[in-house]
Amino acid sequence: MGIWGKRDDMLVHARQPFNAEPSPAALAGAPTTPVDAFYSRNHGPVPDLDPAQWKLEVDGLVGTPLRMSLEELRESFDEVEVTVTLQCAGNRRAGLIAVRDIPGETPWGPGAISTARFRGARLADVLARAGAEPRTAHIAFHAPDVSASADPPQPYAGSIPLGKALAPEVLLAWTMNDVPLPRVHGAPLRAVVPGWIGARSVKWLTRVTARSTPSDGYFQTSAYRLLPAGFHADRAAPGDGTELGPTGLNCDILSPDDGARLPRGPVEIIGYALAGEGRAVARVEVSPDGARTWTRADVYGADGPWAWRHWRATVNLPAGEVEVVARAWDSAGASMPESPGPLWNPKGYANNSWARVRLHRR
Ligand code: MTE
Repeated sequence: MGIWGKRDDMLVHARQPFNAEPSPAALAGAPTTPVDAFYSRNHGPVPDLDPAQWKLEVDGLVGTPLRMSLEELRESFDEVEVTVTLQCAGNRRAGLIAVRDIPGETPWGPGAISTARFRGARLADVLARAGAEPRTAHIAFHAPDVSASADPPQPYAGSIPLGKALAPEVLLAWTMNDVPLPRVHGAPLRAVVPGWIGARSVKWLTRVTARSTPSDGYFQTSAYRLLPAGFHADRAAPGDGTELGPTGLNCDILSPDDGARLPRGPVEIIGYALAGEGRAVARVEVSPDGARTWTRADVYGADGPWAWRHWRATVNLPAGEVEVVARAWDSAGASMPESPGPLWNPKGYANNSWARVRLHRR
């Protein structure tokens, strides 16, 4: 067992702050990711909150501010379960770094994404109890972990528009795959915002604030923004670029591993695909020969509208070095860009170009 209870085969990008992604094989093994393989993305040290002292505050533009223990939350609101794929905005950044370097950002491979069953209260129910005022347009989440990489260093925070906050899939979650939320994943309570970049699923939640404007914290105004390619990330001012929120269509290959050497005979290619909010994965295609010919993959493992799908295709590879490629379509007919070049951006977010692994067949 590795650091933070994670499997030894995690790819640990940094121990402090802890940033680690599962091996592709661990993600390929099951449509729901075991907790010990779930990726973890942290901007600061993991806080150790005393459950006996911990309280959630709900404040800002509300008629009745709330201050509740975990037990009170559990007793006061219906517990609901949603299977959710969380994906970091930086998932697949390594593909953008291959185009042009992105200094200071984690080179995530295909695994800054995982899926779990989360249980908790609907944020909408908690907000209904507090009575959000008509001026409320955004709901901000606050946590105590201080990120030294923020400018200036500050506790982690983020917000979502009220419309999303009131959607039934948005949870304040206390369990993950039927176990109490592990410390590294936000114990005792985290926000879970399905279909949106992982950055908005704030961990170690201590305060939920109703506001007329988005969070003014660094992780909303400066980080997690899509800057034009010509910008220099260090010189960007707060508010530059486009705020990221809902995620788009994406897919990647999980098996075989990039660089694998394979015997003759049919090979099973396995991967994941994920559609944006309100859309479904409609089709996945795999090419065994560097995008010359394509085979339709079998898409399986549906666990509701907020979870990824797995897919598989059995192909015959030509002998020698080959590039296996995968691409997906969503239910609106949108597809993925062929190359990461035009997607390159200074912070390395939202790479959803065609997935590629290089394989060698004897
Ligand atoms: N919440 C806090 N308090 N601090 C953080 O650093 N990281 C965010 C989000 N919530 C973060 C946070 C980011 S960028 C992602 S992708 C997800 O948590 C990762 O959640 P996980 O570590 O449970 O996989």
